[in-house]
Amino acid sequence: MIASFQLLTGLLALTTSAVSGVIQPRSITPPEGCPIPTWVVNNFQWHNASHSLDCVHHPYDYPEACLCGSGWCKPDPATCNGTMVNPCYTGMPNYEPWGYGPLETLDIDFADGLQCHDQYIGYRIHDIGNGASNCGYADRGQGRIVSFYGTSNLDSSIGHMDYVLGSGHALTCANGSSITYSGSVDFPLTCTHDAYFNATCTAPVFEIPVLSYQWV
Ligand SMILES: *[C@@H]1O[C@H](CO)[C@@H](O)[C@H](O)[C@H]1NC(C)=O
Ligand SMILES: *[C@@H]1O[C@H](CO)[C@@H](O)[C@H](O)[C@H]1NC(C)=O
Ligand SMILES: *[C@@H]1O[C@H](CO)[C@@H](O)[C@H](O)[C@H]1NC(C)=O
Ligand SMILES: *[C@@H]1O[C@H](CO)[C@@H](O)[C@H](O)[C@H]1NC(C)=O
Repeated sequence: MIASFQLLTGLLALTTSAVSGVIQPRSITPPEGCPIPTWVVNNFQWHNASHSLDCVHHPYDYPEACLCGSGWCKPDPATCNGTMVNPCYTGMPNYEPWGYGPLETLDIDFADGLQCHDQYIGYRIHDIGNGASNCGYADRGQGRIVSFYGTSNLDSSIGHMDYVLGSGHALTCANGSSITYSGSVDFPLTCTHDAYFNATCTAPVFEIPVLSYQWV
């Protein structure tokens, strides 16, 4: 009886969060005298077009393109009046070669002002949807590292996000000790597809709960 009551309560809780569309997380209680951050994602936008250049999962090891002048021509070695190149190389005029585009872009904006803008360019190959985002790129290692996992191929799915606050952004407790935090969350991801299967994915406002801390 007690077990089934608990099950019922659990189901009701699930239903409630499903209705509001937001999974409500809980952060840990920080050690006494220590501040704890709040990580709220208030804008999530992912555009993954059906023909975005993908330098990680491209079917060939070296996609070929014809760089002609400052633009792209048909990638046919017989007619290319410029140079045949790998469009994933650094320094290309843009990353939408002939037959490809528009660029894949990912934006993750936090309520505290942190903005993670990623776009698919050769020299910064983030495998969008499979881990590291561009956030904290400049101070990676000691920065605020945001990772995103998800698929743009489904109308409705669950995305996953991890946040690691590096030692370069450590917070100071009342007794002078330095502390960093990390957290993660699953969140609802909604994607719409046009007639060409270009995907636009969004998420409701969600919070990444703080789940652990380290002294640094
Ligand atoms: C500060 O307090 C925390 C616990 O709240 C403790 O683990 C840490 O050692 C303290 N640091 C100092 C310098 O006393
Ligand atoms: C959708 O895909 C088509 C075909 O690849 C492309 O021409 C078009 O620019 C794309 N539109 C958007 C909004 O991604
Ligand atoms: C190369 O050929 C294309 C047509 O195939 C033309 O549009 C382009 O202007 C040519 N570029 C140069 C540098 O001659
Ligand atoms: C991005 O879109 C392409 C083309 O539809 C698809 O094959 C790929 O799986 C998508 N990437 C992710 C991470 O969902």
